[in-house]
Amino acid sequence: MKKVLASALAVAVASLVLTGCGGEEKQIVRISHSQIDTHPDHLGAVAFKNYVESKLGDKFEVSIYPNATLGANEKVLELIKQGSVQYLVVSTANLESFDKMYSLFSIPYLFTSEEAYDKFISDPAILKQLGVNASTDGFEPVAAFTAGTRNFYAKEPIKGVADLQGKKFRVQAGPVNVAMMQAFGAAATPMSFGEVYSALQQSVIDGAENNELALTDQKHGEICKYFTYDMHQMCPDLLVASNAFLSKLTPEERKIFDEAAAEAQKVEFEAWKGSIDAAKKKATEMGVQFINVDVNEFRNKVLPLHEQILNDTPALKPLYDAASAANASV
Ligand code: GCU
Repeated sequence: MKKVLASALAVAVASLVLTGCGGEEKQIVRISHSQIDTHPDHLGAVAFKNYVESKLGDKFEVSIYPNATLGANEKVLELIKQGSVQYLVVSTANLESFDKMYSLFSIPYLFTSEEAYDKFISDPAILKQLGVNASTDGFEPVAAFTAGTRNFYAKEPIKGVADLQGKKFRVQAGPVNVAMMQAFGAAATPMSFGEVYSALQQSVIDGAENNELALTDQKHGEICKYFTYDMHQMCPDLLVASNAFLSKLTPEERKIFDEAAAEAQKVEFEAWKGSIDAAKKKATEMGVQFINVDVNEFRNKVLPLHEQILNDTPALKPLYDAASAANASV
């Protein structure tokens, strides 16, 4: 597996510049993501490709690498920083260890309204504030994709906080997730997205947490038959761009790439609508039961974390306040 990845990467890096049929040179722009090719993130990436190539097709060719074929997001972030991969669709949770500003969305129950959350993350001014350290991070967020609401799912039903006690759940890498699981009385097992299926199968973990698409796209519903609507997080996926790449663009090219990112965001949001209902229907056919719970019981367990996280990262306060106000206004 590692060899396959290494050679895929070698090929990709080697094809940095290719000769077009007219003899002109084109630069390959690589976008990596970890979803299958029907997922809204992928459709967003396709929209990005089409936009760039329709405007700058003589100079750039966009290659999309779905399914983490270039490696798990945590690894590809290093390639983004080096500049050998130019764009990555990545959950904010995976960015936390690079820049604490991104821990904002890991704060459990920051949002309780998905409508407020969608509006908040689609605001370009919010993206700018999140990316305030872009010049030192080595990457810049250029679009936000919705990823719905994260919930627990497991082999055994979770009907209340008591059912989480002592169980092991896979979470996305990031310190806030570990603290959240501790507050719930469970154990956090951080691992990358692509490792979750076999970890469930081999009972390394009792369950995981995600939106409904993980049940179907990633087939976790084959193993976990109970999905509980505790609604603990709404974490967006961000399209981030490599500074090494952006800094070489002319202002005119940069404008087109930014427009392409905005187009990708629009298409992803549009594709998200309906995808959850379709996934629920398919998961139900797979035998998954959806359980409604007293969300406040879960929320009360982790609310003390809000203060802890803000004390730890005071720079988050203005965005936290803006998110809270947006949530309260709906
Ligand atoms: C969602 C999200 C991904 C993320 C994944 C995970 O599917 O869209 O960006 O990687 O959750 O839990 O790792």
